[in-house]
Amino acid sequence: MSATRGLEGVVATTSSVSSIIDGVLTYHGFNIDDLAHYASFEEVVFLLWNGRLPKEQELKQLTEELASYAEVPQGVIEQMKMYPLDKIHPMAALRTAISILGLYDPEADDLSEAANRRKALKLQAQVQTVVTAFSRIREGREPVAPRKDLSFAANFLYMLKGEEPDEISVNAFNKALVLHADHELNASTFTGRVCVATLSDIYSGVTAAIGALKGPLHGGANERVMAMLMEIGEVNNVEPYIMNALSNKVKIMGFGHRVYKDGDPRAKHLKEMSKKLTTITGEPKWYEMSVKINEIVTSEKGLLPNVDFYSASVYHSLGIKHDLFTPIFAISRMSGWIAHILEQYSNNRLIRPRAEYVGPEKQEYIPISKR
Ligand code: ACO
Repeated sequence: MSATRGLEGVVATTSSVSSIIDGVLTYHGFNIDDLAHYASFEEVVFLLWNGRLPKEQELKQLTEELASYAEVPQGVIEQMKMYPLDKIHPMAALRTAISILGLYDPEADDLSEAANRRKALKLQAQVQTVVTAFSRIREGREPVAPRKDLSFAANFLYMLKGEEPDEISVNAFNKALVLHADHELNASTFTGRVCVATLSDIYSGVTAAIGALKGPLHGGANERVMAMLMEIGEVNNVEPYIMNALSNKVKIMGFGHRVYKDGDPRAKHLKEMSKKLTTITGEPKWYEMSVKINEIVTSEKGLLPNVDFYSASVYHSLGIKHDLFTPIFAISRMSGWIAHILEQYSNNRLIRPRAEYVGPEKQEYIPISKR
């Protein structure tokens, strides 16, 4: 019995939610490139949860259901006001608030299909209400209630800023949500599946998944990309900064991937959006710096950008605070986590691998007085 570090290359389950085959990402067989061009996030949610694209009436129904569940219980808002607001990261706040949402759901432990479907809708609808409410509460402002007439993407920007967003921002944000929605057996999805495979509830599963997404080797990288761009400051500083980092074996956030070795198919869409949005905002330097970093890291290390790299300058251009980048990832990935959790329930077996023991053997117990 020998261990594979980081479970690299291990096939741990079957799944029909999404696939990465020959570097192509699909959701239920639909190429991510097509979905990024044509689909609304709501359509993708339906696809991930049902295995097919919705008909018009079905999409309308899902959109209405998401809107009807979007308000979070007042208790969750009141608890957020009591968090140590100046000390915590929004991902920690999100992890806690999503767990608290479960306390307010009388169906939390009901694993029936009907109850799980309602919880799925609630979680998907409420995750962005939680993120935007926290963002406003920590700024001393009241949360903005979700609107029933806005799309999912528009509602996020509306609740965050308190004003109706323009079409370009909504379209860009929608595309980012579509691109982040699912990604096969990534670390947070695997975490969620492991959790519910014990027949624990969905709230526990997604809370665990949020904890895994938070780390800088996973979803936490996008915020750190922006921190790096800010630290570099301008295009002329890119080369010395990156060369110095590489020679000190510092990992450049937003580069590399466990599965993709020839490039992450989501990155090109975000790169294109970054170019467009940074031009509109009159801050092309973020895109130009990113391209320069990309050139150097690729030529020096052979590493390509992942989904987190260009999403940083995209979100910055949308006027979003940098520590909300990873929570945005969670808002989108909630749809994938739920799809995988439902799939796990539908064909469940406890996930319990083995460890290769490398510790000492045959130790003799010595009484404490004699040690
Ligand atoms: N910058 C510099 N060197 C890197 C980077 C990077 N971003 N990524 C990998 N390498 C190097 C490693 O140092 C290692 O070199 P070595 O063999 O000389 O020690 C080699 O490439 C292999 O890297 P591993 O970390 O072993 O690769 P692994 O498959 O375990 O990791 C990961 C993949 C975690 C994504 C890694 O590339 C990384 O840390 N990237 C930066 C963080 C990041 O962007 N995370 C987001 C990933 S996408 C997502 O989760 C949404």
